[in-house]
Amino acid sequence: MQIFRLFTLLFVSGANCQTCERSFRFYEKQVEWENKLIEEMSASEIEANLKYLTSQPHVGGTRADYEMAQHLKEVWMSQGVDNVEVKGYEVLLSYPQEDNGSGVQIIDERGQVKFTAALFEPQIDGNFYDNSVLPGYLAFAASGTVEADHIIYVNYGSYDDFKYLEDELKISVKGRLVLARYGKFFRGDKVQNAQRFGAAGIILYSDPQNYAGDNGQASPYPNSWWLPGEGMQRGSIVWHDGDPSTPMYPAIKGASRISSEKMDLPRIPAHPISYNDARKIFAQMVGPQAPDAWQGGLNITYNLGTELRNPGWKIRLEVNNELKLAKTYNVVGKIIGTVEPDRYVLLGNHRDAWVYGSTDPSSAQATMMEVLRSLCSLKKKGWRPRRTIIVGSWSSSEFGYMGVTEWIEEHYHTLQNKAVAMINVDTAVVWPYNLFVCASPLMENVMIEASKQVPPPDKTLGFDSLYTQWNSRRRYSKWLVDNRLASYSDHAGFYQRLGIPIGYFGWMPDPEEWPEIDYPLYHSSYDTFEAMKNYVGPEFTFHLAAAQLWALVVLKLSDSLILPMKVTDEADFLEEIYTELYEEHGDFFQINNISITYLEEAIKGFKQQAKDFQNEIYNLDQQQELQVRQINDKIVQVEKAYVYTEGLFYRKHMKNVILGTSILDQYSGWSLPGLRELIFEHERENDKKKQKEIIEEIHVHLTVIVATINGAAQQLID
Ligand SMILES: *[C@@H]1O[C@H](CO)[C@@H](O)[C@H](O)[C@H]1NC(C)=O
Ligand SMILES: *[C@@H]1O[C@H](CO)[C@@H](O)[C@H](O)[C@H]1NC(C)=O
Ligand SMILES: *[C@@H]1O[C@H](CO)[C@@H](O)[C@H](O)[C@H]1NC(C)=O
Repeated sequence: MQIFRLFTLLFVSGANCQTCERSFRFYEKQVEWENKLIEEMSASEIEANLKYLTSQPHVGGTRADYEMAQHLKEVWMSQGVDNVEVKGYEVLLSYPQEDNGSGVQIIDERGQVKFTAALFEPQIDGNFYDNSVLPGYLAFAASGTVEADHIIYVNYGSYDDFKYLEDELKISVKGRLVLARYGKFFRGDKVQNAQRFGAAGIILYSDPQNYAGDNGQASPYPNSWWLPGEGMQRGSIVWHDGDPSTPMYPAIKGASRISSEKMDLPRIPAHPISYNDARKIFAQMVGPQAPDAWQGGLNITYNLGTELRNPGWKIRLEVNNELKLAKTYNVVGKIIGTVEPDRYVLLGNHRDAWVYGSTDPSSAQATMMEVLRSLCSLKKKGWRPRRTIIVGSWSSSEFGYMGVTEWIEEHYHTLQNKAVAMINVDTAVVWPYNLFVCASPLMENVMIEASKQVPPPDKTLGFDSLYTQWNSRRRYSKWLVDNRLASYSDHAGFYQRLGIPIGYFGWMPDPEEWPEIDYPLYHSSYDTFEAMKNYVGPEFTFHLAAAQLWALVVLKLSDSLILPMKVTDEADFLEEIYTELYEEHGDFFQINNISITYLEEAIKGFKQQAKDFQNEIYNLDQQQELQVRQINDKIVQVEKAYVYTEGLFYRKHMKNVILGTSILDQYSGWSLPGLRELIFEHERENDKKKQKEIIEEIHVHLTVIVATINGAAQQLID
């Protein structure tokens, strides 16, 4: 088994026979370290880390942000990380105003308040609550008040939901107040859709169908992991990453800041409520009954509610947020490489949480801490990586990836030249059913190879490795590795601005068992250590498997002579996205006389180049350090070539023209995001002249994509 794997490794890396002997010894040594690393790692260490991380609320920009950063620095220094820095940035955050609460009320015809939605979740689990627990609110929602004699239910608030209301049901939301349920996609896009269709304000709530088992009939937290009727999802609704007052440049000392009018922030008031409180609002709503697919899990009939039950009554939404400059702290550690200290393998995860954040992000932060402890333990036994390992514990990510984006902006050129890959994990364990892996094409191979070496987290299931479980249970998803990276976590800036190859993963529920369910306690006060310990992963073995996978991927990337990345995977991906584009939009291109054959040819050219390159690796004399280095540099440059400095047409801040996010949902990935956003805007444009302009822009962007793919192929040639 072991020897077999060694040969597999040799074959994959393509060493030829002259160098077999040396390579063999090299890989033997590497596998030895890999096995030591797996053995070193411990579930109870992760549990102890989680206990610490969830011991107090730790919202970005608060005292706890700083305290935990300092603690982490001390831990890493004592474990032997070579270099640890706590790096603070002053960034613009959005908090609820103190003593001037936001809220939702029902008011009768005499102006009497009949009902006020709760701002805080009651303490139902014996956990310590202090005034650092923020009320339910949406960061960066515009302050203001909307008082309306109606409220309109818009289902999830997707673009299609609003279209359906407007076109099919002939209900306009213009100037009106809307009510949407959480789930399916990024909350900020719900607010943006409301804005697109002209709504005056939006209330978001967590429907039991999406957050509580059995439509809210199952006993909720603290008796299970289901969201109780009082639970509220906090969250940010900005759609740009990083400090909005320093867009595209770092918030360094003395940085110039743009005025708030110039920032691209949400323009309408928005606020979250619990499902118990949403029930009170729904009870007031009459008008036509909502379509069947829009009915949720509350024990009421969901009406669209263009009118209220009692004439003269009103729904009042008031939001009082304040923008505040606050210092937020990243912790960045380094284990310096021996042979190539100037090549960086990055791993990271955000540390800040809306409240305790047991799942998001602490399940990953606790896991990452164990990865670091174990690497340091290897170091004590004589190991040191070939390349430098950089670990980042970011803060204020919940507000819009603030800490990490400023760090990327401050180290832009260094990362552009020296970063090899980034592995980011945000929620290591949501539910221990199966691994979800999202990675850029270059990272696919190493994720799969590493997973084959990780022991199965639950032996009673009969799988012989993490890989077997992952692969066997994927019958519900199209891809083993999803290459569509999206922007649901801190890796966004690394690939959107720099084209750095990305790996992301986490344990997720079975979509077949719970098709409508989102992670129930998400961003509520109830995402606690107890919820994780009692209902999700009592033994922390799934956290452990995540730690082992993460550590192995980092080790392979930082130690392998030839990077375990295959440019032929990249070629396969490009072919796949071409087919997708053709199938989905072939007619569109034809009708508009746009030829995409040169895109097809560019991809064919890339594919040939990739094959030749794999042969080049096969014939490489691995004793030639310089040639080894050249080969590795070529591989890493491929995805970096996807960055087009001008950015996408509608989203200048997104620079990657091959990998990106949906224009309607930051949490879903789009291939060829710039092309797809133009097609989307073309479809919803009625003005012929503007349509024509968009078509011209599509021609331009298509050329950029073709040049980009040709450019990526050129990286592989001397
Ligand atoms: C719905 O359930 C809630 C909570 O259990 C209860 O208070 C309410 O009376 C129920 N309403 C209806 C219409 O059955
Ligand atoms: C509450 O905030 C609003 C802005 O959202 C402001 O106009 C109002 O003056 C504030 N009231 C108090 C009492 O601070
Ligand atoms: C496409 O080309 C044909 C033939 O040249 C022309 O008749 C048609 O109007 C063109 N369509 C568009 C949308 O430009």
